[in-house]
Amino acid sequence: MDHFLYKNGVLYAEDVSLNDIAAQVGTPFYCYSTATLTRHYQVFHDALASMNPLICYAVKANDTLAILKTLALAGSGADVVSGGEIRKALAAGIAPQKIVFSGVGKTRDEMALALTQNIFQFNVESEPELYALSEVATRLNKTAGIVFRVNPDVISDTHAKISTGHKESKFGVPIADAMRLYALAATLPGISVQGVSVHIGSQLANLAPFAGAFKRVAELVRELRAAGHDIRVLDLGGGLGIPYEGSQNPPPLPSAYAEIVKEATKGLNCQLVFEPGRLLVGNAGILVTRVTYVKRSEGRIFVIVDAGMNDLIRPTLYNAYHDIVPVVVDEATETELVDVVGPVCETGDIFTAQRLLKVPKPEDLLAFRSAGAYGASMASTYNARPLLAEVMVNGSAFSVVRKRQSYEDLFARDQLPGWL
Ligand code: LLP
Repeated sequence: MDHFLYKNGVLYAEDVSLNDIAAQVGTPFYCYSTATLTRHYQVFHDALASMNPLICYAVKANDTLAILKTLALAGSGADVVSGGEIRKALAAGIAPQKIVFSGVGKTRDEMALALTQNIFQFNVESEPELYALSEVATRLNKTAGIVFRVNPDVISDTHAKISTGHKESKFGVPIADAMRLYALAATLPGISVQGVSVHIGSQLANLAPFAGAFKRVAELVRELRAAGHDIRVLDLGGGLGIPYEGSQNPPPLPSAYAEIVKEATKGLNCQLVFEPGRLLVGNAGILVTRVTYVKRSEGRIFVIVDAGMNDLIRPTLYNAYHDIVPVVVDEATETELVDVVGPVCETGDIFTAQRLLKVPKPEDLLAFRSAGAYGASMASTYNARPLLAEVMVNGSAFSVVRKRQSYEDLFARDQLPGWL
């Protein structure tokens, strides 16, 4: 359920017409709905409420400060993967006690920042990282609360580029090594073992891989406790999928996911942590673009829009599907097979090929739905295209929450060497 709905044939974000936003802000732009975002947080939270969860929004999905602050006010913590994300989470008012730090390549500087801020937890992904963390914590006279991210070797049925739980993945430590690593961690200065974490992939469309992974880590918690470790936290990662294709192949509901969690963690008495990203912001955002040309060539119809793969890379990177809908519905238009493409000079700059759509006219506005997660946060300036604007709607109010990059900004980091 989201709050992007048609009123008299015009697409609205809550009570604001996207036509009006486009007229004021220009195109392309991302538009987020506060009501959708907070509702998704609430539905996820309520499904798990009886288990007293710590929900740490995965900042990488969308790091726009207004999104972070909206979630912070709803009660969310943050799952971060870089020094930049730590700074953004703190700037949005997320308490350090609600921040978990994931990632295979944490640098010593990033560790030092997280330690001085007293974050809740480091999700350690390798033995060398453990030694580095111990060294940095000792130097700063701090103690790092750690969990190992274990790799349960389950196959999750998702795109290969976003599956992480299989044993060839770069993420996590093999579950078979866990006992040895926990024993080692218990001996290192500056390290305090507090739990176990797992994250098996993103956009998971069924529950079986979660159930398998959660059962396996619950067993590990028992084994570690039997070996004398004080395991208090169980971090179950993120990854629950969202519906991208309308009502087709709907992924499991948070309530069904919660049942799986409850079943797997029964009697463990751990603080449960969750790291949802896409589930919270995916359907709370759309990308609005204007048609520049409609080009008919060799029997194909190319709808050329002013957004490109630099603004939304998911279709070309993962073959991802996004619904594409008109902002103003024109019943008279014919439906034909079209390719919707961007202006970037790459064959891969295609949002969809041969999809049945109403053929728009130049200047018409189109919206890519479900673009709130991994849209703006993965945008680039490729082809010297300024980063696009981001807008947030709240009832009948809207505000630009990230300015369109100016050409001045686009040049700002360049400097010519003395010999030129
Ligand atoms: N926790 C960890 C350790 C992660 O690596 C991720 C996502 C999440 C949580 C959040 O997963 P989510 O709930 O959003 O599925 N760019 C890709 C997705 C990459 C996901 C990376 N890790 C896409 O556009 O589909």
